Amino acid sequence: MSETSALSEAVLAGAGPEQLLACPLPDRYQAAYLRREDEGIFAGQRDKDVRRSLCLGEVPMPELAPDEVVVAVMAAAVNYNTVWSAMFEPVSTFRFLADVARRGGWDARHDRGYQVVGSDAAGVVVRVGAAVRHWKAGDKVVVAPPVIDEQEAMAQEDGMLAGRMLAWGFETNFGAFGHYALAKATQLVRKPPHLTWEEAACNTLCLGTAYRMLIGAHGARIKMGDVVLVWGATGGLGAYAVQLVQRAGGIPVGVVGSPQKAELLERLGCRHVINRQELGFDDAPEAPRSSNPSADSGADCVERWRALGAAIRERVGEDPHVVFEHVGRETFGASVFVARRGGAVVTCGSSTGYAHQYDNRYLWMKLKRVIGSHGANYQESVEANRLLELGLVVPALSRVHPLAEVAEATRSVQLNRHAGKVGVLCLAPREGLGIEDHRLREQVGEARLRLFRDYADTSTTRKRRSDEAEKELVSA
Ligand SMILES: NC(=O)c1ccc[n+]([C@@H]2O[C@H](COP(=O)([O-])OP(=O)(O)OC[C@H]3O[C@@H](n4cnc5c(N)ncnc54)[C@H](OP(=O)(O)O)[C@@H]3O)[C@@H](O)[C@H]2O)c1
Repeated sequence: MSETSALSEAVLAGAGPEQLLACPLPDRYQAAYLRREDEGIFAGQRDKDVRRSLCLGEVPMPELAPDEVVVAVMAAAVNYNTVWSAMFEPVSTFRFLADVARRGGWDARHDRGYQVVGSDAAGVVVRVGAAVRHWKAGDKVVVAPPVIDEQEAMAQEDGMLAGRMLAWGFETNFGAFGHYALAKATQLVRKPPHLTWEEAACNTLCLGTAYRMLIGAHGARIKMGDVVLVWGATGGLGAYAVQLVQRAGGIPVGVVGSPQKAELLERLGCRHVINRQELGFDDAPEAPRSSNPSADSGADCVERWRALGAAIRERVGEDPHVVFEHVGRETFGASVFVARRGGAVVTCGSSTGYAHQYDNRYLWMKLKRVIGSHGANYQESVEANRLLELGLVVPALSRVHPLAEVAEATRSVQLNRHAGKVGVLCLAPREGLGIEDHRLREQVGEARLRLFRDYADTSTTRKRRSDEAEKELVSA
C-alpha cells in the first residue's frame, strides 16, 4: 500500500488523532486544477466551456504554514466562482495567485503553474500547523472560504473588511477539489453531525454569504414581516436566502426560471413564487451590451420592471423591503425599481454582467439603498453553520459527482442546468457516509434533507422519459 493510501485509508476507517499523525502525509495527491498554460484557450470564443480548462491529476502536497491545517477532503461542492476561475474571467485566476505571492513569506507558495480550485469542502483534519490552537487531527470540519489575515487591525472589527482577505480556492491555491486541501485554522467550522459528507460540504459559501446579506450586522438586517424578493430562489445562494427569510419571520418572494423550479420552491415552503420567463426576464440581455444604450431599450426594461412590481404586489400586496441580488446586469435595474420606498437592494454578484444599468431617480427619490456584500466573516460563518447544526436550515444539495467528473459538475452550473448545490465526492467512496447524529437527522426529516435531491432525481427521470419518447417517435 502506498503512503498516500495509508493516510487516506486511515481517514476512511475513522482513525483517531494518533493513528492519523502516525501516517505520513503523501507527497502528491489527486486533484482538479487549472493550468497557467491554458490561460488563453478561450480567446475569441463565445462558449467558454469549463470542461476544456478543468484538469484532473496529481499535484504536489504543499508545505504547511504555522496557522494552517491539512484537511483530508471527503466531499466538496461547486460554486459559481469556479466557473469564473475556469473561464479565466473577468481576469485570469493566475493573476490573483501572482498578486498573493507578491506579499511574500508563506503566501509565495500559491503562485504555481497550476491552481487547485474549489471553495467548499468538508473533511477530517490530518495535520495542524505549530500555531493552531483550536483544532486537532481527527476533527471533522467544514471549510469556510474567507481567508483572513487576523493580524490586520480591521480583521478584529470585521474580517471581510480586512484588505488582505482572499476567497479560498478562487484567489488562493490548494482549494477544495482534491483529496487534500490546505486551509487556515480561522476557516474551520464544525461539521454538522447529522449530515453526510456531501451534504455538509455544500453549504458554507452560499449560506454564509446569504446570512451576511440578510441577517448579519453588515447586510440588510431583515426583521420579522419583511418582504424579500429573492432572485434565483432555487439556485445556490437563493435556496439558502429563502430559508433564512422564512426562519427570520420574513416573507420570501422567490423568482425562478421554470415551472419545475417553481414547484420545488413551493415544496421548500415559499408561498410566493414568480416564474421570470412569464414576465420576459428570460436569458436575453436586458440592455444592449454597449456602454451607451439607446433610450428605446430603456423603455422596454421599464415595462418589464413594472410587470415584476405588479406580480409582487399581486402576490403579497406590497413592495419588497429588500431585494436579494446576484444576477447583475439582467435584473439589477428591476431590483432597484421594485424595492419599496426606503428599501434596500443587497448584492454580492453579477452572473450576467457586472456593468449594471438602473434608473437612479427610483433610487434617490424613494430613498433606497444599495448594499454591497461579500462572503461572510468567521463569526458569521459560525453563526450560519449553527443554523445547520440545529436543523433550522437544510442543505440544498441536488446532485453529486465523483471527483473525476468535476468538470461536468461545473459545466452544469455554468449552463444553469442545476438546482441548489452540486456536490463532488473527493475521498468519500460513496454518498451517504459521515452521519453521526441519527436522532437529529430523524427530527429534521429525510424529506426536508432530500428536497433538492428528489427534485433532481425527478428531473432526470422526466428527461429520460421524454428522450425515450422522442426516440420512439423518430423510429416510428
Ligand atoms: N460575493 C460573494 O461572496 C458571492 C458568494 C456566492 C455567490 N456569489 C455570486 O453570486 C452569483 C450566483 O451564485 P449562485 O451560487 O447562487 O449561482 P447559481 O447556483 O448558478 O444560481 C444562480 C441563479 O440565478 C438565476 N439566473 C440565472 N440567469 C438569470 C437571469 N438571466 N435572470 C434572472 N435569474 C437568473 C438562476 O435561477 P433561475 O434560472 O431559476 O431563475 C440560478 O439558479 C454568482 O455570480 C456568484 O459568483 C458571490
